[in-house]
Amino acid sequence: MKAVLCEQYGGPEVLKVEDDLPTPRVGPNGVLVHVRATSVNPVDWKFRSGLLAAVRPVVFPVIWGCDLSGVVTEVGPSVTLFKPGDEVYGYKDGYVGKTFRGTYAEFAVVPEKSLAAKPKNLSHEEAATVPLAALTAWQSLLGQGKLKPGQRVLIQAGAGGVGVMAIQIAKAFDAYVAATASTRNQDLLRELGVDEPIDYTRSEADGKQQKFDLVLDGVGKSVWAGSLRALRFGGRLVTLAVPIPQEPSGKLKFFSTAIAGMAAGNARALFGGKRLLMARVKPRGGDLEKITALIEAGKIRPVIDKVFTLEQIAEAHRLSEMGHVRGKLVVKVSG
Ligand SMILES: NC(=O)c1ccc[n+]([C@@H]2O[C@H](COP(=O)([O-])OP(=O)(O)OC[C@H]3O[C@@H](n4cnc5c(N)ncnc54)[C@H](OP(=O)(O)O)[C@@H]3O)[C@@H](O)[C@H]2O)c1
Repeated sequence: MKAVLCEQYGGPEVLKVEDDLPTPRVGPNGVLVHVRATSVNPVDWKFRSGLLAAVRPVVFPVIWGCDLSGVVTEVGPSVTLFKPGDEVYGYKDGYVGKTFRGTYAEFAVVPEKSLAAKPKNLSHEEAATVPLAALTAWQSLLGQGKLKPGQRVLIQAGAGGVGVMAIQIAKAFDAYVAATASTRNQDLLRELGVDEPIDYTRSEADGKQQKFDLVLDGVGKSVWAGSLRALRFGGRLVTLAVPIPQEPSGKLKFFSTAIAGMAAGNARALFGGKRLLMARVKPRGGDLEKITALIEAGKIRPVIDKVFTLEQIAEAHRLSEMGHVRGKLVVKVSG
């Protein structure tokens, strides 16, 4: 099969397309998927560059990639949910015992519990943009964030992969939604239903003192202090950014104990009655089914910035690393 193989940590140039790799074999609960499309998530280049090597070391060679949309070609003997010919999509957590077998490949084996039926109203390219980003948004808002209908939510990085999904999920739950993005993305925020678009290049979200029940942070530590100020007493800040304990200095010193605690596995800290929680997305097909229902009801739509071929994967990584993707980058894998 064709796949993007990686033999070492490094820049985008370490991603190499190979044509004759062995097709993976299914285990008892595995589903072999002929991948039609995948997408790029920031975690892909964080793994590739070695940024996560201290916390999640890998043994090379590896195939990166988390999202897939495709067609089932074979199922393991214990699989009951899917059969050959089914159109499916999902987030594959490829990190298993220091190996990484991801979705930048023509075929991938995925645990049946990580998959869901592809939304009928989406193409494979559109569907591949959904799983990791939407599951992150869903689990952060409804799980750690405990979002209730009518609450006030602030989404930092509203124009990114997770942000676009988080805005639409929060609106589907009748929340009042504020979101941050640069000037060029203010129209996108409005189109997605944001009640209060905030241009972070002109004004700061922390001007909204003690107003929000929940903040979802897709930016990182630089917006934590402002986000905490924007929360009401008892509110929650759910951050997606993986803390690196060596990094805090200057004004971030305030957070150093919380960051060290989070890195040690305590995924929460308390600041004056406001909680800071660290998100960690889980590949749950059951959550994805609920997201599918919202997509098929027209309440969530994917936003695609650009479509690449597998051969252009390095270019897609370069663009993602610049930090200003609007929605998602898609990678077409097979026809
Ligand atoms: N913990 C987990 O389980 C988990 C899961 C998924 C993602 N993540 C992490 O969450 C972060 C976001 O993921 P993503 O997929 O949404 O990333 P992304 O698609 O690459 O985000 C890009 C977006 O960030 C916006 N942005 C950049 N700087 C900003 C700022 N200062 N304020 C507001 N918006 C800003 C950009 O908008 P403009 O162009 O308008 O600036 C752009 O639209 C990444 O660090 C990712 O690794 C963690």
